Amino acid sequence: MDILRAESLFHREFQAGKTDPRLFGSFVEHLGRAVYTGIYEPGHPSADEKGFRLDTARLIRELGVSVVRYPGGNFVSGYNWEDGIGPREKRPRRPELAWFTVETNQFGLDEFIDWCRTAGVSPMMAVNLGTKGPEEARQIVEYCNLPSGTYYSDLRAANGHKDPHGVKLWCLGNEMDGPWQICHKTAEEYGRAATEAAKLMKWVDPSVELVACGSSSLTMPTFGSWENTVLEHTYEHVDYLSMHQYYNNRAQDTPDFLASTVAMDEFIRGVASICDAVKARKHSKKTIHLSFDEWNVWYHSNEQDKKIPRWSVAPHQLEDIYNLEDAVLVGYMLITLLRHSHRVKIACPAQLVNVIAPIMTAECGGIFRQTIYYPFMYTAKYGRGTVLEGIHESPKYDSRHYTDVPMLDAAAVWQPSGETDGALTLFAVNRSTENALLWKPRLEGFEGYRAVGHTAMEGPDRYAVNSFESPKNVVPFRKPLPAGEEDGFLLSPLSWNMIRFEKVPE
Ligand code: AHR
Repeated sequence: MDILRAESLFHREFQAGKTDPRLFGSFVEHLGRAVYTGIYEPGHPSADEKGFRLDTARLIRELGVSVVRYPGGNFVSGYNWEDGIGPREKRPRRPELAWFTVETNQFGLDEFIDWCRTAGVSPMMAVNLGTKGPEEARQIVEYCNLPSGTYYSDLRAANGHKDPHGVKLWCLGNEMDGPWQICHKTAEEYGRAATEAAKLMKWVDPSVELVACGSSSLTMPTFGSWENTVLEHTYEHVDYLSMHQYYNNRAQDTPDFLASTVAMDEFIRGVASICDAVKARKHSKKTIHLSFDEWNVWYHSNEQDKKIPRWSVAPHQLEDIYNLEDAVLVGYMLITLLRHSHRVKIACPAQLVNVIAPIMTAECGGIFRQTIYYPFMYTAKYGRGTVLEGIHESPKYDSRHYTDVPMLDAAAVWQPSGETDGALTLFAVNRSTENALLWKPRLEGFEGYRAVGHTAMEGPDRYAVNSFESPKNVVPFRKPLPAGEEDGFLLSPLSWNMIRFEKVPE
């Protein structure tokens, strides 16, 4: 193993933007065991009187999740939200066409709102623009947000929720560009439906914020033209455009896998450019921000999922078990989101519990934190603040799909607090699988600051995972700090790192 050198410069005045707390969102879909036996399991030893698993809720609080998108995902495009309200014994069991399971509807909208309070998160609801349309979207906003005196607001009160749910953030459907979507639409069809839904929803409650569907990934054949057409219709009616992206290492080519964030970066820049082009064409004063509301690594469970019998209830579905290299990529995706925080205001790794998730639970049993839990937890905690632009000097490599990939990438977040200068946190990844990096970050405008901690995720086995039996197999650990101020930080090959600086009194 060679030790190569890398440098960065961060200046207190070179500020890229402030992170919106909703950048650290998440996602719970009616899919697999995300809801049933994930967040909700009446009779579980940790369940409260509402059936919410408090062991799961405790880890979600520890993880630092801000908003949770619900109820889908692909599921929402066939969902009748009224199936999930009212007395449980009257709720229908339905065949569910996104994932070919049976939805029992024992957990629905009102339970989700109650659960949000238990888990300390805010709701981000999605409406069905697949099998349903603007009228149902209007009705659900009326149910959630009007105080009383109308059919749906009174129905909510009759269902035991006198006070409005006050849901501010709404997604106008899900991945409507995808042929797999229930009632997939062309960009024209979706643009029209989303515009009309948006008008009705905002007429019921002008304070709601709306997310229009962008592309399901950068590789969609309609990418670009989809955003353009959808925004032509919706521009003045919505606030955010969504982005989704999953990466995989099916090819077992780690250098190429870790270079995926180059594409993520281009994706964000591309979508922002299209938003701005439409803005210019429309002579609009409004800027559309981005909601990266599905992102993660997803592939480990693909083969297993093909064996699930149709019409199962809450099967083990999309239960990816994440390894060390996945955690490094997730940490890297978070760095990418931080660097674009002036434009990306909302982001939700998909998903939160059991389904391509940082938290895994066993029915009637225990819980463990996956490898990807940790970079999220630390970024959600120390990544809230002012992001500084960085200039980096790093060795580069070429991979199958990417050229000139820097081994090092990093983001800096400054958290001024009250009267004090506050802490500065650097998040950095070494993508090289072979070489360590001796990294010297130069901090300008941070006189008197000293490194107080270096936390890393690294290890000899990039495929190492956590499990119920070995929940702490892959965890972050504290590394020794450099002896002298001029010495660099040693970033091991294939590692995610967090280095904290504080102003030390003279
Ligand atoms: O998160 C899993 C699925 O991925 C979601 O339901 C869908 O929106 C995406 O294709």
